[in-house]
Amino acid sequence: MEAPGRIWFGYVAAVGIAVIGLFTLDLLAFVLALVLLVATVLGERYRGRQAALAAAAQDVDLPELVACWARGWAYSRGFPRPAEVPGGVRVEVGQPERRVEWVATDDAATLGGLVDTVRATPEAWLSVVTESPAGVRPWFAEGGLTAGDAEEALMSIGLADHEPRPLPDGYRAEVERDGGVVAVTVRPDDDAEVVAAGGRIAVIGTDAVADRIQTDPDHRRRGLGGAVMSLLVVAAREAGATRGLLVASEMGEALYAGLGWRVEARLVTARSAPPRTSAESGHD
Ligand SMILES: CC(C)(COP(=O)(O)OP(=O)(O)OC[C@H]1O[C@@H](n2cnc3c(N)ncnc32)[C@H](O)[C@@H]1OP(=O)(O)O)[C@@H](O)C(=O)NCCC(=O)NCCS
Repeated sequence: MEAPGRIWFGYVAAVGIAVIGLFTLDLLAFVLALVLLVATVLGERYRGRQAALAAAAQDVDLPELVACWARGWAYSRGFPRPAEVPGGVRVEVGQPERRVEWVATDDAATLGGLVDTVRATPEAWLSVVTESPAGVRPWFAEGGLTAGDAEEALMSIGLADHEPRPLPDGYRAEVERDGGVVAVTVRPDDDAEVVAAGGRIAVIGTDAVADRIQTDPDHRRRGLGGAVMSLLVVAAREAGATRGLLVASEMGEALYAGLGWRVEARLVTARSAPPRTSAESGHD
């Protein structure tokens, strides 16, 4: 409540100085009043913008987004349901070099403990969802974890706002449902053996988590990625989902941003030991 008082003081002071200028016919007083008025208006606009940004930031509940995304991702991949842990979730990935993965927020109260746990666990990964990757990387380095270079993006959308994209000519799409997971496969009309593009979406309640979106390099930049996303979103909406979530690679982020998806935070990942082989990386 302190700031509005200061703003009103600016208007009152500007009017007061202008009145003094009127009585004394002092040009300097008018100039001063004008400068004060402009500064007050600009200050008020700046403060309004800051308040709107703060309100938008408060609307994002990162722990909730992390838990819902991880649940959908695990469902899409056939992993067990993630277990809630302080700061995030633990996912049993079950791959040789990625046996278990913690996905957590950058809450300082829990991050140090998670770093210690991951360092002490063979074949373990830690993915931290954060608005400041540069602030998280020192935790990895000081905690003895091997950090990956990539930064993925946790993105969301109200599915009603998703931009539609038609399937380009010369391709056909198959839509298959397996429980709550919908898979789309796109093939060229003239070759039923070739998969040109595809992807999946896992629907849990009102959330839909998109996963494994990819287009074969020979078929990229023809609109197939957008068409796959459109088909998945239509299917997810039919299944009752209203919100979309995904973790995007750098390439994927450009595609999804054009379809209306919003970046909520970044994802930086580290593992407990250097990889012995080039194990699968990322979450897409
Ligand atoms: C990301 C990917 C699925 C896009 O597939 P696609 O079939 O080429 O996508 P579209 O043709 O529908 O592209 C739509 C728009 O997305 C943007 N876009 C797509 N790929 C882009 C890229 N590599 N760089 C910049 N913008 C890109 C563009 O705005 C593009 O429109 P334009 O071609 O008219 O400029 C594909 O590049 C891919 O499989 N990449 C490797 C796997 C991957 O990272 N998947 C995403 C996982 S989250």
